[in-house]
This record gives sequence, C-alpha cells and structure tokens, in this order.
Amino acid sequence: MPAKIIDGTKIARLVRAEIRDRTKALLANHGIKPGLAVIMIGENPASVVYVRNKVRACADVGISSQVFNFSANVSEAEILDCIRQLNEANNVHGILVQLPIPEGISVQHILETISIDKDVDGFHLYNVGGLVAGDAIFPPCTPYGVQKLLEYEGIELEGRNVTVVGASNIVGKPMALMLMRKEATVAICHAKTRDLAQYTIIADILVVAAGKPNLILPQMVRSGAVVIDVGINRLPDGRLVGDVDFEGVRQKAAYITPVPGGVGPMTVTMLLHNTVASAERIAARAGRAPAFDQAASG
Ligand code: GUN
Repeated sequence: MPAKIIDGTKIARLVRAEIRDRTKALLANHGIKPGLAVIMIGENPASVVYVRNKVRACADVGISSQVFNFSANVSEAEILDCIRQLNEANNVHGILVQLPIPEGISVQHILETISIDKDVDGFHLYNVGGLVAGDAIFPPCTPYGVQKLLEYEGIELEGRNVTVVGASNIVGKPMALMLMRKEATVAICHAKTRDLAQYTIIADILVVAAGKPNLILPQMVRSGAVVIDVGINRLPDGRLVGDVDFEGVRQKAAYITPVPGGVGPMTVTMLLHNTVASAERIAARAGRAPAFDQAASG
C-alpha cells in the first residue's frame, strides 16, 4: 500500500488556529499585539518570496510585522544598529535576519547581536546551547515544524532509529538534537558520508535536508519507514521538488511528506509560534510583581 501523505498544509492550518487563539488572548488579557521584525539585506529572489510569505502568515494570525529592507552594500554597523534598536522596541517580540546575507557582513556578529529574548529563529548561540542541553527557549523553526508533523501523526520517536541527511546549522544539527531529546537513536549524514544508503536503510524515520533532487531512491528506504523531505529544489523545467524520489519512495514508505505542501508550511508556522511564545514570556515577566523580582535577584 502506498504511504500516507503527511499534509503539512492541513497541519499548519490547525497549529495556526491555536496560535490565533493565543494572539487574541494576549491582546484581550495584556493589551499586547505580538510583533515580528524581519531584516532583509539585498534581493535574493528566494528570500523575497520567503519574507513575503512570513509577512502574510503573520497577518493571518494577528501578529504585526515590519520588514526592514537594506541594499546589498549596507555596512555591518548599520545592520547591528538596527538590531540593537529592535532589541529595545516594546512592540517587537521577535527579530529575524533573513539568510543568506551578502559576503562582507558577518552572520555570527548578526546572530550574537539579536537579543536572546527575541531570537525567534533560534540561531543565537545561547539558544543553540539550550538545544544541546535539552531546553531551548526558541527551537529553530524548520526542525520544530518537523517535530510537530511527527507529533500530529502520532509517530513514536522513543527508541527508534532516525537518520538525518544533511548537517546544516539551520536544519540537520538542531533536528538531530531535538530527536535525541525525544530518545530516538540518531545518525547524522552529510556530503562526505560514505555509502549513504547503509545509514538510510536502517532508518525507521528518515529526515532529508540535503538540497539535492532525487538523492533518496526507493532502494535506500526501509519498507514502512517514515520519510520527511525538507529539501526544496527548483528544477530547470520550473518544477519544485524535494530531495526524495517521491513517486518511487511512496510505494515503500508508511508515511511521506510532499514537496511542496509538507514541511514548508510548518516552518513559517513555527516562526509564528515562537513569536507568540516570545510575547507571552515578555507579558508574563511584565506581570510579575516587582517585589518578587527584587527578592529573586537577591
Ligand atoms: N533562510 C532560509 N531558512 C531560513 C530561516 O529559517 N531563517 C532565516 N532567518 N533565514 C532563512
């Protein structure tokens, strides 16, 4: 029997409905409208589309958004200055700098300047460290979205073999950490892995984020596996595909995510989730009695 197709668009809609309820509650109970600030440097065509989607998604759930557009030759100092102002802005609860950014500006400097309380991408070293220790404030959005998809489908992780293909800071590495936290046994493969198939074939759950169309063929997948395709590749004929041979692998897997309509909608949804969670944290902190704060700080 062909695999069940995991409908990321439908699950994203359900999660967004919960987020909408939370933004309404924040406004009703605390007078706070969650706000996201997006910094965009240059005009990378894919980034333009991603940012437009983020802005639309914010409006859909009651989050206000502002986009700060900078030309590709802006100085690093100007960007860091903008981030510092946003760190202080009361109406901003999440800040993200859309990646990639032009050469000449340090990603590291940018990420370490974003306040850890507003780091809704989860890329600040503090949040990365939190993930390693098993307690991140803001889990990075794409792996968090994959975790939610697995949760909604009732797929157990404890004790299962998971193979993650791709070891990026944005997807592969945090994904592996999050799955370890759920007590899965995790293997991480990357561009230098020899004989990729020996790792993919043992996976009960296979997460692929390598950026290579048709990297995963049916003979590399165990019968009954769960296959999560994080890849987004534009073919010369204009079609959008993932990293998995979808038609071939779906004959063998138990579950599979399509591209588009699988992980993609969840990434933006978890950004909304982190932004609302950030506004809730800030509201909770503001609501605490000052005497308590003083006592707590000694
Ligand atoms: N570029 C591609 N994915 C992402 C993401 O999740 N966050 C940011 N800031 N930039 C990206």
